Amino acid sequence: IDINAFRNDLITWFYQNQRDLPWRENRDPYRVWVSEIMLQQTRVDTVIPYFTNFMREFPDLQSFANAPEDKILKAWEGLGYYSRVRNLQTAVREVVTEYAGKVPDTRQEISTLKGVGPYTAGAILSIAYNKPEPAVDGNVMRVLARVLLIDEDIGKAKTRKMFESELYELIDPDDPSAFNQGLMELGALVCTPTSPGCLLCPVQTQCGAYFEGKQAELPVKAKK
Ligand code: ADE
Repeated sequence: IDINAFRNDLITWFYQNQRDLPWRENRDPYRVWVSEIMLQQTRVDTVIPYFTNFMREFPDLQSFANAPEDKILKAWEGLGYYSRVRNLQTAVREVVTEYAGKVPDTRQEISTLKGVGPYTAGAILSIAYNKPEPAVDGNVMRVLARVLLIDEDIGKAKTRKMFESELYELIDPDDPSAFNQGLMELGALVCTPTSPGCLLCPVQTQCGAYFEGKQAELPVKAKK
């Protein structure tokens, strides 16, 4: 593929078509962090009102670090997977005490925080700090499996690492934030699991699956 064309087409499309989402109002790393944790097992439409309420109640790291457990659980009520919010508070308290209240900006440091896996680390580093770090979730694997014709089982950890290696080459060093969010947005709005909108796709001319008519066969997910 033509890497420069892919970057430019994806990023231009993202700036013109991104949804107006509350966590895109600014790049505060704490806000990006909370949004990515909420979005891990919960749909965007569900997350929106929870995120807005959460930011009203806990507008910064300090207020969330100091909040009593019943308050943080109450704010999470209905989102499920409550270990997410407990781990988030543990990690935020560590940022306050060990990092003087500044969310770390290296993969090495941020990955030591509780609940921050490779995806969340990459999302915070790229979206908040504009660092050229991959953020590989299911949406991103679907888009890249199709564009690059990768037919490895996306359920395997080794496959996620393969996508990360590809992304270190592919990610636009001039705008990693828009590049990564563009992949996420493309996966959500166009490159959907079934009946993807290939005729509207900004990277159609770069897509191996479109060229070979394999959209329906990719990505490969082995049955458990
Ligand atoms: N899914 C995961 N992260 C997201 C983000 N930052 N914006 C939209 N959808 C997402």
